[in-house]
Amino acid sequence: MKFFVDSADVDAIAELNDTGLVDGVTTNPSLIMKSGRDIIEVTKEICDMVDGPVSAEVVAMEADAMLAEGRKLAEIADNICIKLPLTLEGLKACKVLSSEGFKTNVTLCFSANQALLAAKAGATYISPFIGRLDDINIDGMDLIGDIRTIYDNYDFDTQILAASIRSANHMKDAALIGADVATAPPNVIKAMANHVLTDKGLEGFMKDWAKTGQKIL
Ligand code: E4P
Repeated sequence: MKFFVDSADVDAIAELNDTGLVDGVTTNPSLIMKSGRDIIEVTKEICDMVDGPVSAEVVAMEADAMLAEGRKLAEIADNICIKLPLTLEGLKACKVLSSEGFKTNVTLCFSANQALLAAKAGATYISPFIGRLDDINIDGMDLIGDIRTIYDNYDFDTQILAASIRSANHMKDAALIGADVATAPPNVIKAMANHVLTDKGLEGFMKDWAKTGQKIL
């Protein structure tokens, strides 16, 4: 499973990118607002830093305007992935941009039918929002499972990008169910490395090592 960082915070992305475990980045208008930065400038900085796809979202509501915004965002760098909302207008724009060879990410997906349409529109990625479904007592992970089945039934190339991830458990469950990619906030990706028994074990090893008086280097 690929890991994308769901953030427009350049420092946080850089810290994780240094681990070599980051495959891409996703942003959205709220994350751009949170960064306090200009969308073009901050997206360019992220694209220069990360090798994989960087999703940048259009904000227009009509397909023609989405096309214009998407093409402008794509000029930022070769690794831009144009993020479009899952509306009929967004799907229409997705179909055109995907046919022109742009990478596309259809976002705000909350149903299997929406995901089916995005695949037919040639989306590179579909972003089902797990956490926001869980928030209204609908199991977000069930949606990932349904999309996996549908995409596998028809050999769709669209990759399932599990989004709105809120916990390390979401990451594990998305991996178990077969999501191709998961995008998560930096703190969630870091939390995946934590285990109380790792900390305890390491503490014990370090204490015993100190008693040996040895050095490796
Ligand atoms: C994905 O592309 C979105 O940017 C993101 O995952 C939304 O997450 P949220 O529901 O925590 O805002």
